[in-house]
Amino acid sequence: DLPLRTLARKHGLGIGTAIDMNALATDAPYRERAAREFSAVTAENVMKWSELEPTRGVYNWGPADELVEFARRNGQQVHGHTLLWHNQLPAWLTSGVADGSIDSAELRDIVREHVTTVVKHFRGKVRAWDVVNEAFTDGNAPVLRDTIFRQHLGPDYIADALRWAHAADPRAKLFLNDYAIDNVNPKSTAYYELAKQLRKQRVPLHGMGFQGHLDLQYPLPIDAPQNLARFDKLGMETAFTEVDVRFFLPVDTYKEAGQVGSFNTLLSACLLTPRCVMFTVWGFTDKYSWVPGFFDGQGSATPLDENLQPKAAYRGLQQVL
Ligand code: XIL
Repeated sequence: DLPLRTLARKHGLGIGTAIDMNALATDAPYRERAAREFSAVTAENVMKWSELEPTRGVYNWGPADELVEFARRNGQQVHGHTLLWHNQLPAWLTSGVADGSIDSAELRDIVREHVTTVVKHFRGKVRAWDVVNEAFTDGNAPVLRDTIFRQHLGPDYIADALRWAHAADPRAKLFLNDYAIDNVNPKSTAYYELAKQLRKQRVPLHGMGFQGHLDLQYPLPIDAPQNLARFDKLGMETAFTEVDVRFFLPVDTYKEAGQVGSFNTLLSACLLTPRCVMFTVWGFTDKYSWVPGFFDGQGSATPLDENLQPKAAYRGLQQVL
């Protein structure tokens, strides 16, 4: 039984997982699986702004540095997640912006400082950064989400953040990242148009991330290969960054089969795309998955069960690889 990372290597594909740092510290079988199966890791939480800088000016690098060290010991790449996102921002920042004690000019300085400090701290250790996460709204006419960044720095905040990150680590691959863009749809087309525009303006943007949080109640993104192909044609890297496949419990054989098909659809799309560099799952075991806590009644979204034993979804990934 070959580990996923061994199978993926012959395709030149990084196979990744989000890592829960509490599980990594307390659960030896979790740690062993994480090391054995994956060639890339993403911090599930510990590189988000609220975790890195809970108090203004006081960075807490410990947990993120531990992850980087774990990756180094196990020959794994680190995917940095995430520099700018409207969720998991520190309270001092959101409340300061809300009550006006932080004005637009100061926010711009704070954001530049944050991007620069974090990217420099991990320079040479993080292969790629999700520089801006979830910048678009949903629905049929997506626009840039009305975040504090969009509101106070203007729509060019994305280009600015990319430039600041590039200056801090010129070798890091810079990504955007978003969800509900796995097939060709209005949101993925807006995402594509932004990529095209930024590349045309010679903004340092190297890759586009596709979260890949699938839900069996929605159509399978069967045209994912066609979707990725248009980004590939821009000469950019692509990656599935947060794949999981949720459904309403309890599991039955139909749902299990649907889940195999869903994982395999995204993995095949990546294998069919020359510059698709990484396929990352958002947690590899149901024991620690975020899904039950965020989607009422849903679960079983990862390739290994709560006892860290392979499910059909895991076998499916092995077979495609
Ligand atoms: C989730 C984590 O899994 C949870 O532990 C946390 O409470 C909230 O965030 N899209 C993203 C990820 O880009 O950062 C989110 O991770 C899941 C959705």
